Amino acid sequence: MATVSDGLTKGKSQAIATPESAWRKRKDAWEHLGYVLSEITSEFKDEMRCEEYKTEAGRLLAQLSSIEPYWANPGLHFFNEVDRLMTEGHFDDAMRLVHRANQSFRTQTQYFEPEGRDNSDYGSHESTLVEGVSSGPNGLIIPQVEILLVDNGPTEEIERFKEEILEQRQRTDPFHYNFVAVPSIEDALAAIVINPGIQSVVLSARYDLKTRRRLSGGLQAFIDGRIKGYFGHSQQIQGLLDMEHILSDMRPEIPVYLIAGVALESIAHEITGRFRRIFSRNDRMDLHLSILAEITDRYHTPFFNALQKYAKRPGGVFHAMPISRAGSVQNSPWARDLVDFYGKNLLLAETSATSGGLDSLLDPKSSIKKAHELAARAFQSHRTYFVTNGTSTANKIVHQSILAPGDIVLVDRNCHKSHHYSLVLAGANVSYLEAYPLNEHAMYGAVSLEEIKGRLLQLRREGLLHKVKMITLTNCTFDGIIYDPRRVMEECLTIKPDLVFLWDEAWFAFAGFHPIYRQRTGMTAAAKMEEELGTEEYVQRYQQLKASLPAPGTLENPENDEVWLRTRLFPDPGTTRLRVYSTQSTHKTLTSLRQGSMIHVFDQDYALRNANAFREAYMTHTSTSPNYQILASLDIGRRQAELEGYALVQRQVDLAQSIARAMTRNKLLNKYFRILDTGDLIPQEFRTTTSGNPVRDGLAVWDESWRQDELVLDPSRLTLDISRTGVDGDTFKHTYLMDGHSIQVNKTSRTSVLLMTNIGTNRSAVAHLIEVLVKIAEELERKRRIEGSCVVRAPGAGRIPLPDFSYFAEEFATGGGSGDMRKAYYLTYQDPASEFLTSSQIRERIIGGGRVVSAVFVTPYPPGFPVLVPGQVVTLDILNYMDVLDTREIHGYHEDKGYQVFTNTALKSLAPGAAG
Ligand SMILES: Cc1ncc(COP(=O)(O)O)c(C=O)c1O
Repeated sequence: MATVSDGLTKGKSQAIATPESAWRKRKDAWEHLGYVLSEITSEFKDEMRCEEYKTEAGRLLAQLSSIEPYWANPGLHFFNEVDRLMTEGHFDDAMRLVHRANQSFRTQTQYFEPEGRDNSDYGSHESTLVEGVSSGPNGLIIPQVEILLVDNGPTEEIERFKEEILEQRQRTDPFHYNFVAVPSIEDALAAIVINPGIQSVVLSARYDLKTRRRLSGGLQAFIDGRIKGYFGHSQQIQGLLDMEHILSDMRPEIPVYLIAGVALESIAHEITGRFRRIFSRNDRMDLHLSILAEITDRYHTPFFNALQKYAKRPGGVFHAMPISRAGSVQNSPWARDLVDFYGKNLLLAETSATSGGLDSLLDPKSSIKKAHELAARAFQSHRTYFVTNGTSTANKIVHQSILAPGDIVLVDRNCHKSHHYSLVLAGANVSYLEAYPLNEHAMYGAVSLEEIKGRLLQLRREGLLHKVKMITLTNCTFDGIIYDPRRVMEECLTIKPDLVFLWDEAWFAFAGFHPIYRQRTGMTAAAKMEEELGTEEYVQRYQQLKASLPAPGTLENPENDEVWLRTRLFPDPGTTRLRVYSTQSTHKTLTSLRQGSMIHVFDQDYALRNANAFREAYMTHTSTSPNYQILASLDIGRRQAELEGYALVQRQVDLAQSIARAMTRNKLLNKYFRILDTGDLIPQEFRTTTSGNPVRDGLAVWDESWRQDELVLDPSRLTLDISRTGVDGDTFKHTYLMDGHSIQVNKTSRTSVLLMTNIGTNRSAVAHLIEVLVKIAEELERKRRIEGSCVVRAPGAGRIPLPDFSYFAEEFATGGGSGDMRKAYYLTYQDPASEFLTSSQIRERIIGGGRVVSAVFVTPYPPGFPVLVPGQVVTLDILNYMDVLDTREIHGYHEDKGYQVFTNTALKSLAPGAAG
């Protein structure tokens, strides 16, 4: 049997560089190779074309030869065999092997023969294995994973080591794994980046730093960026620790094992806690068992398993829920279609029991508790809680747990409505922050750091900083604008060391599973800060900053605050408390049934300052009959994200980018549509890098931009500018996309439609979308010709931009621009505290020197942000905006009656000394 050192691994003179997008190119190349081989071997082949196909096959093989060394399946041995068969002209045999490889890529499984041979041992029983994936009589189809082995020892020794470990496998193992062996750190990082199927890393003390292969410029630059600052010591142990550090930064979900030589015991104390386990080279069995146990652990879904088990138990229901076990519907001619449609299992799993292996969401002690713990591990939080009523409820829970009446909270005015309503409930005083406007595109960006720091400094000058408790920001925004949570937290904590952060990551649950995205999540940022705050280097940096910062500005002398505003701040490691919460709609971007959300907590003071309040808030908002199917799907969503999140997120980005490419390449599409890029949506003042589309420019550029820039754009969301079609966003969504072609989109602005890819998007859906857009462009083109007009006009050009938040009326103002919305909200309960006025009546009052105060939220949808909140003063700017607005829904505004505002008498009743 040949060894891995055959052919490819010796490829020092490799002709084609390993591409950074190998995950995509590889699959395409194998599939295309299958097609080309089937043409070569076709009965009806055309000899001329046949030569072309052979050249093409050679090109594909060369491309694959740059990629395959980083994959265990089908393995170099297998690949070399395809190569040999093709070189010797056995195209039929080569085609069969390629067909089999493609089949196993599709199912991500591997046929496992009863006697222990797997399909890499293809030579002698080819035909069984070709069909084996679906029809082997006694064989098993087993999910397979890849394990990265970093070892540059003699090839024969590595082969023996692998074989001996693989010999430990048993027919009953839940998973099957194979090794991909690489000799160097750079190769290992290349493999981790381009092969998302790798589930564990086994490091050995024998490694090179540099690769001997040729990597594409982008991949090499990305790896250089990640390695920078590491591997500077001569000590081998330090190098291993560096490698573990880089790996856990990139893919924390995959464990790193260390196999050490003879001096195992002597190094163990130096590396405690950093590796999942350390083995001696001879402990094959333990390594094998650890690999299996760890993957089984990630695969484990405690609540889903408990629910399945429960559903299978016979038993009677003397409790609520007639639907349980299909009791009320099974034999009903009027309701039986429920069973027919959803299937029996759903109703077997519907129960109100919290015993029998199930657990109570309100007081979790067993399967739900364990599921929470696994989710906390996956999302890098201290603790995670499942929520079965969406992030709308998750936000209410967090607000209530942190805020008491009188506390000041800084909130992005463009945040989701659940925050505004939470703040009414919590009774905190709200200080609204403004996001920068993108008037040309009729939308908002995000809140600049300058705005956030400016507000905190203002509150400090006014002596109100002690009241500021929390800041809430949406990360990422609906349109895909992403903060740098670490920088925001560092700078804010310098001004207010115990500030609590709520990152609304309703759209960002997937981000924790991709090496570039994850640095921009609240949880990862908090973990990184905690790690760094304790280091000597950090303390020195802080001391330098402290020495250079002037005393805080005052109301009389505010100038010093200008320095605070312009300086990059770092918090005091001695006083800073990291109290970070994030809420995620798992159902929006990962696998979960609708309304499945999670709250992640990274709060160093949780036990001391929030455990009780959080429990009470959770009790306040959580149903006593939470939906078990949602809980089970959250458990599975976590499992899937841990095991294949990286692959899925990367695919989602790739697919979005392929839409963007089509938009620029196709002339007709290009004429009517444009994808807005980073340069369009994020002004240069919030960036230090300059690429308009960092993802398109390669991994290294993407990584650099996301490490440095204040704001970045999610490349899996595309804002399609349709201003040149002459159709407004709402009509485009309903008439063109939905009615015309059954394509669902969510958000629109007057001039744009947001196209979101997700981990469920596939290539066919993308191709369909592109085709539909081409058809729409053709239709527009036809109309243009018939109607003779060649000018495509931006709809609503010249419209008035959404006005800034005006201010709270003095009756509700609480200082520093903040206001008590709850007071205003409950004032409306005192009949007749409010009245309805039309726009012109309000205008008259304002022009006549009067003041009008809104009693309710007024929220046009889209864009979905309040133009008025309870207690806010109505201005002419706001009326001007509202008067020309043509959105279908305006929540809180009555077309026939106008605006609900406070009566002067009601406002007077709040004046100091007025009779209550
Ligand atoms: C930023 C943001 N936060 C929270 C929510 C509410 O999430 P859910 O639908 O899970 O209640 C949404 C919903 O669109 C949202 O966009």
